[in-house]
Amino acid sequence: MIASTSCNANATCATTTTTTLRRRAAGKSHARGVVLARASSASTAADASALYPRRELAQVSAKKVVAAPVAKPSVPPAQIAVGSAVAIAAAALAIKASKSSTIGGASKQKRIVIAGAPASGKGTQCEMIVKKFGLTHISAGDLLRAAVAAGTDAGKKAKEYMDRGDLVPNDVVVTMVKDRLAQPDCAKGWLLDGYPRSEEQAEALIESGIDPDLFLLLDVPDEILIDRVVGRRLDPVDGTIYHMTFFPPPTPEIAARLTQRSDDTEEKAANRLAVHHKNVDAVVGKYERIMKNVDGNRAKQDVFKDIERLIKAM
Ligand code: AP5
Repeated sequence: MIASTSCNANATCATTTTTTLRRRAAGKSHARGVVLARASSASTAADASALYPRRELAQVSAKKVVAAPVAKPSVPPAQIAVGSAVAIAAAALAIKASKSSTIGGASKQKRIVIAGAPASGKGTQCEMIVKKFGLTHISAGDLLRAAVAAGTDAGKKAKEYMDRGDLVPNDVVVTMVKDRLAQPDCAKGWLLDGYPRSEEQAEALIESGIDPDLFLLLDVPDEILIDRVVGRRLDPVDGTIYHMTFFPPPTPEIAARLTQRSDDTEEKAANRLAVHHKNVDAVVGKYERIMKNVDGNRAKQDVFKDIERLIKAM
């Protein structure tokens, strides 16, 4: 079992080995929080496999797609021809419908990257974007925490880097993200959070033909970020992201169950921030054409208004 630092909302942080996975696994969005909390209760990778919905497991274990056996036709060729024509027409209609259908006024096929320093509000904004536009949210940090919780080889390798606040090596994270993007739920459009974080990761996406339409960069001054990191708390029940000052839990009952990410200390946040500054220019350089800066140092609803406008304008 992995040692981890965790706290309740008001108590001093303490090191524990018994509830590590649950606390590490607390994610950013409601859905992810539930998924990760469930995985976190698994004591082995096999348990985690049983608990994860298949689409979440895809991130830690790419599955081969096996073609189903083709049944012999049981109807005459003429009927097959008519049936095929109907099927082709239906498929064309379905594609047309999916292209024109919208959620919240935006096309479903939007592909967006959201970037920014640690605690700049990526996860918070992703919750709102997903709610409004129905995109599939893929957080590199959540994928990695899920792999750690599931005890996979990739997770074991990632853990030591995450504990220090360093970037996890590309041989782990690139495949994980690319596999996740290949899942069927990404066909409706996706929101990639926390990837790419280096020039090499950006190049890996580009070489794979994975091209976002919009690259959002949240700008928040460093001194504000450290406050946000150390004040962040996560609800392991529904995954809600709180802040003890800026977005406090609404009831004492919720406050009592909140946890803190083990990398949300001032020291680790400083390293995460340094890693961000070292890499961000090279990443942005790859996406200048589609990049939009967003002032993230405002109330989260005001930040979202700008993001919403940018997405609607895509
Ligand atoms: P990850 O989980 O992605 O962490 P991060 O990038 O450091 O970002 P955070 O999750 O800390 O912050 P956030 O921007 O989502 O802010 P949030 O909305 O929660 O990555 C963790 C680790 O995984 C990395 O260190 C690395 O080791 C590894 N990793 C991840 N991706 C990798 C990659 N691509 N390659 C290699 N390694 C990778 O908000 C923070 C707080 O602020 C909350 O308390 C919130 O309530 C509050 N807040 C949010 N918005 C506002 C606002 N407008 N005003 C006031 N408070 C606000």
